Amino acid sequence: MANTRGLEGVVAAETELSLVDGERGHLVFRGHWARELARSRSFEDVAHLLWTGRLPAPEEAAAWQAQMAAARTLPEHVYRVMDALPAGLDMMSVVRTAVSALGAAQDWPPSLADAIRFTAAVPTIIAYRHARNEGRSPVAPRPDLPHVANYLYMLTGRHPAPDHVRALEAYLVITMEHGMNASTFTARVVTSTQSDMASALSAAIGAMKGPLHGGAPAGVMDMLEQIGTPERAESWIRSALARGERLMGFGHRVYKTTDPRALALRDVVTELAGEDPWFSLATQVEDVAIRLLEEHKPGRRLYTNVEYWAAAVLRAVGIPKPLYTATFTASRTVGWTAHILEQAAHNRLIRPQSVYVGPMPAAPTTPEEA
Ligand SMILES: CC(C)(COP(=O)(O)OP(=O)(O)OC[C@H]1O[C@@H](n2cnc3c(N)ncnc32)[C@H](O)[C@@H]1OP(=O)(O)O)[C@@H](O)C(=O)NCCC(=O)NCCS
Repeated sequence: MANTRGLEGVVAAETELSLVDGERGHLVFRGHWARELARSRSFEDVAHLLWTGRLPAPEEAAAWQAQMAAARTLPEHVYRVMDALPAGLDMMSVVRTAVSALGAAQDWPPSLADAIRFTAAVPTIIAYRHARNEGRSPVAPRPDLPHVANYLYMLTGRHPAPDHVRALEAYLVITMEHGMNASTFTARVVTSTQSDMASALSAAIGAMKGPLHGGAPAGVMDMLEQIGTPERAESWIRSALARGERLMGFGHRVYKTTDPRALALRDVVTELAGEDPWFSLATQVEDVAIRLLEEHKPGRRLYTNVEYWAAAVLRAVGIPKPLYTATFTASRTVGWTAHILEQAAHNRLIRPQSVYVGPMPAAPTTPEEA
């Protein structure tokens, strides 16, 4: 029996949600270019697309936004659960615990209302705990604000700048969904047992927390901070590569050309915050890095990945470093819940096999041997 380590190349599901084409650098969400959606559509619009299969009509948009906003306030016991958690617990553990505490109807199959509830709740969970960590009073969600503006508002207590909202919205849209990644697969496995959405999401958040999956683009920030000015980029990168180090934000298991998510975020950055010296540094370092990676590993096709420009966006809009992976989680909750609904709609228990490579017992066990 074939044994594929890491299930690389194994097809585990048919999905209508997204196409990830690593050779061409294509990312499609239900028939729409993800890059185009990130450029032009709201978080709420793209969530609607992934959950229902179509973008909302203009006359539906306001009611849809209100429906999602209505689910932002958490039940009282979830705040108490968060307050009971030890200080210093990382944000992903807090989100996992709060999502679990939020629970879901135990009914089968899970519903669109469940998907809305969890997606609306995650930003409130992050902002509430972040305020508590900083010794501030948490800021209650504002139902009149759109999803992304409300997240920034809850984090800072201030009405966010429109260009910050647009930049963060592009990031949250482009990272919403990405095929059969480890956390999405986890969510589908749990759902396939007919377990509830809170259980599937808690498990997915656990998978996302690992450094091989949802690791924050903190390494990119460290690199850019150490480089400091564009003139230092070439010597800094040459020495890092000579020491055998990997450049954070470059290379990808699937994409063998520029990650389309990186292109989308670079567009946003160029349009909305092109004057920021941080963006200008990031653009120049990117050019040097790609040139030197090709020189260092000819033919390896190492290009920019989403983490690189995510770091620039998250830093520019003022998301604190410890919230990076949790903010990614706030986005990916849409993809997970869409996969949960899709798995439930065509369910078959996911139950692969293993190959036994351990020792056999000494005593004969089969009739032929006996
Ligand atoms: C993302 C990543 C883990 C993909 O790894 P992968 O597909 O398994 O690629 P491989 O490890 O097979 O790398 C192929 C070669 O390119 C080199 N390489 C890959 N990414 C590199 C990088 N960012 N910097 C320098 N060299 C790199 C590897 O050292 C390897 O060289 P070798 O064959 O001589 O040992 C890898 O590119 C990486 O570590 N990137 C930096 C971390 C990062 O940005 N992660 C976020 C991903 S969204």
